[in-house]
Amino acid sequence: MAAKVAVLYYSKGGNTQKLAEHVARGVEKAGGDVVLRSFEDTSVDLLPECDGIILGAPTYFGLPASPLQAFVDESIKYMRKLDGKVGGAFTTSARRAGGNETTVMAILQMMLVHGMIVQGTTEMDHYGAVAIGEPDALAAEQGEHLGMRVTKLAATLKASSQGAA
Ligand SMILES: Cc1cc2nc3c(=O)[nH]c(=O)nc-3n(C[C@H](O)[C@H](O)[C@H](O)COP(=O)(O)O)c2cc1C
Repeated sequence: MAAKVAVLYYSKGGNTQKLAEHVARGVEKAGGDVVLRSFEDTSVDLLPECDGIILGAPTYFGLPASPLQAFVDESIKYMRKLDGKVGGAFTTSARRAGGNETTVMAILQMMLVHGMIVQGTTEMDHYGAVAIGEPDALAAEQGEHLGMRVTKLAATLKASSQGAA
């Protein structure tokens, strides 16, 4: 059974939305059922039914823009219900070293509080997908890689939990 993976984002100028689309393509390439939505167009009620949750926002002052934080704050409603789900993070920033890694790490930290599982990678940006401004070909690859990786792990865990049931 395919993993259901949510790719949720905030984007004011379109850069992060474009990166989210690449992440969603990666989910599809890995055989997952993707739900691609902005935070404005969804609610935390989607989260419990997903096997993987990938969140993204622009880097603002070295941290995720506030709509992502507000969404995560709402997710307290599902504390202990997201335990064991697979998480991933992405961001876009104006500067190459403008706080994009701290942004990704902040998102992953929030996921860890939920008991979610986070996998790094040796092949690409280690912590999550990052684009500087509008995503270029490399950023597109990073995004797809993130989507594929979260989906594959989520599918593996789902299959093993169903086998154990
Ligand atoms: C309030 C604000 C704060 C920002 N802070 C940073 C920052 O700390 N570092 C950085 O590199 N870019 C920063 N930026 C630039 C955005 O991260 C960047 O333009 C991003 O790609 C915008 O994404 P969007 O097109 O999806 O809205 C900031 C932009 C705004 C509006």
